[in-house]
Amino acid sequence: MSQPVFARSMLCALMLLTTSLAVAQQDAQTRARAEFEVASTLTPDLANGRQVYLICAVCHRPEGWGSPDGAYPQIAGQLPEVIVKQLADIRAGNRDNPLMYPFALPRILGGPQNIVDVAAYVARLPMTANNAKGPGTDLALGRTLYETQCAECHGADGEGSVEHLAPQLAGQHFPYLMRQFEAIASGRRRNSDPAMTKQLAGFSPREQMAVLDYSARLPLPVEKTAPVEWSNPDFPAYVREPLGVAPPPPPPPPPLPPR
Ligand code: HEC
Ligand code: HEC
Repeated sequence: MSQPVFARSMLCALMLLTTSLAVAQQDAQTRARAEFEVASTLTPDLANGRQVYLICAVCHRPEGWGSPDGAYPQIAGQLPEVIVKQLADIRAGNRDNPLMYPFALPRILGGPQNIVDVAAYVARLPMTANNAKGPGTDLALGRTLYETQCAECHGADGEGSVEHLAPQLAGQHFPYLMRQFEAIASGRRRNSDPAMTKQLAGFSPREQMAVLDYSARLPLPVEKTAPVEWSNPDFPAYVREPLGVAPPPPPPPPPLPPR
């Protein structure tokens, strides 16, 4: 093959690939939206939600409080509509979450009714106010940015909005917010609001840290906050290993008996 012909066929192949990726992304979005719409018509069954939550508790723990290192978000107390959207997005391939993806598939998680049920259950779990915060050194700037640029969608107190399907940010772990902000600004988190993606991409590192530190510190309403030592009575027998900490290494083998 001569070089120009080769180059032309490579270009064609690339264009085809880009187009099919774009089509796949659109399909994922359409599927997620269709499932969200079906889910919106269903009435949640909390008892079944508790049953379904057994799948989630393996990673999110019975309390749904997440890990301070930000590997796992606090999902307790999140708006149920937001949880439904994220589950629909994750399983449709509209938001990458390789760890959780297999558990979100219909084979394990079931259909839209189970999603609505588990979302209602999670939304009612009381939250920990002991979430990881940022350094606390730039909160005045954080407040100004939050009030002028974020509150309209995420709520004056970071309580989230059903209308915008914007998550509650108050009480979220600061490192998780930092990670999601970067995923959104870089376009890696594909399901996010396009207006916000553009807005966040323009933030300096200082502004990002300030606004997210401020968001994580927004006070939770008393009725959504759990007592400090609360553990979920629905899962009395659950053994709670510390999250994000590797299990202790196995003991060394016993010495060989003398011969
Ligand atoms: C294998 C571990 C695992 C299991 C099981 C799991 N999750 Fe997750 N989940 C994660 C991780 C990790 C993230 C954070 C992903 C990221 O960083 O983008 C997450 C993120 C989420 C989010 C998005 C939160 C946000 O605000 O961005 C929701 C909602 C959620 N999980 C709900 C559930 C529910 C409900 C179940 C049970 C049906 C479940 N998860 C099962 C690991 C898991
Ligand atoms: C136009 C409405 C809108 C504005 C303005 C907006 N957001 Fe968002 N934000 C959203 C929506 C919608 C989502 C959820 C996207 C999705 O479904 O993945 C989101 C998600 C997030 C997340 C991920 C949270 C999670 O639990 O996964 C962070 C962090 C975030 N926004 C920060 C901000 C900050 C900081 C600002 C202000 C600088 C801001 N947003 C302004 C609508 C908005």
